[in-house]
Amino acid sequence: MLFPDFRGRRLRANKNFRRMIRETKLSCDDFILPLFAIEGKSVKKPIDSMPGHFQLSCDHIVTAAKEACDAGVPAIILFGVPDKKDPLATRAYASDAIVQKAVQAVKEQVPDITVITDVCLCAYTDHGHCGVVENGIIDNDASLDLLAKTALSHVQAGADMVAPSDMMDGRVGEIRQTLDEEGFSHIPVMSYAVKYSSAFYGPFREAAESAPQFGDRKTYQMDPANSLEAIREATMDVEEGADIIMVKPALSYLDIIYRLKEEIDLPIAAYNVSGEYSIIKAGEMMGWVNAKDLIMETLLSIKRAGADLILTYSAIEAARELNK
Ligand code: PBG
Repeated sequence: MLFPDFRGRRLRANKNFRRMIRETKLSCDDFILPLFAIEGKSVKKPIDSMPGHFQLSCDHIVTAAKEACDAGVPAIILFGVPDKKDPLATRAYASDAIVQKAVQAVKEQVPDITVITDVCLCAYTDHGHCGVVENGIIDNDASLDLLAKTALSHVQAGADMVAPSDMMDGRVGEIRQTLDEEGFSHIPVMSYAVKYSSAFYGPFREAAESAPQFGDRKTYQMDPANSLEAIREATMDVEEGADIIMVKPALSYLDIIYRLKEEIDLPIAAYNVSGEYSIIKAGEMMGWVNAKDLIMETLLSIKRAGADLILTYSAIEAARELNK
């Protein structure tokens, strides 16, 4: 049908028509809120590059989790900022370390929110890489045991789901096996299966104090030029037992989200990362953009591309906007 028989504007003519034919609907059910846990009491340290976000001690993590829960956000994902770093990331898997304490506090005081933990070593190693370093090289297989130990310790502390973000080969299988052997076969794994080596992580590395001290993450995170490789990575993680497959970052990789949604029959998550958040906030501070509208439009686009879940620093404000 061509003009004048077809007139696209007919069904755009008023609010109710637009509501009725809307193909994609955002919901607060889609959101996961990332939070940064730090040692101490009553600590709420602003993250300069992420206005509105803070490094939070456990008491404040509980407050933020409550706020998210009250806004209708179903889940948080916790990152730890440890008091001590060493070559083997011992504060990643100690039972009294920061993430483990934060998980316990939230599960005790906000039982209705789902607690996911990020499983990685970069914030806990003195060199800032996501795996063990041997002679200047990130040793894949030597890292697997520590990653599995970290996941197990999070689950023992009460985590409802673990999310490995390190990009070592074989880690999903190793974590799945360890959890199964230790009586946690019911705990799902959300794999950062397709994680690109991205400049959009810059602000996060300030937040988590996790920048690599030498080199970069290009030997383990994916090359932004590749999309067939994304399918291979996702397929591998499905075979190793992942329950949810994540693409990260989101906005420059909407094509990847779309492709994976077609190829993979598991829920797809997308991480609307720190740099994507900071750019909008910076534009807002300059008075150049309407941040609220930009946030809602970007989240909608990520969902339209095929994401079932969105990890976003805007989870609470977006949920409030949707509940208005
Ligand atoms: C840890 C990790 C990173 C992010 C999530 N988990 C950073 C990185 O790989 O350097 C980035 C999240 C964000 O930018 O919001 N490996």
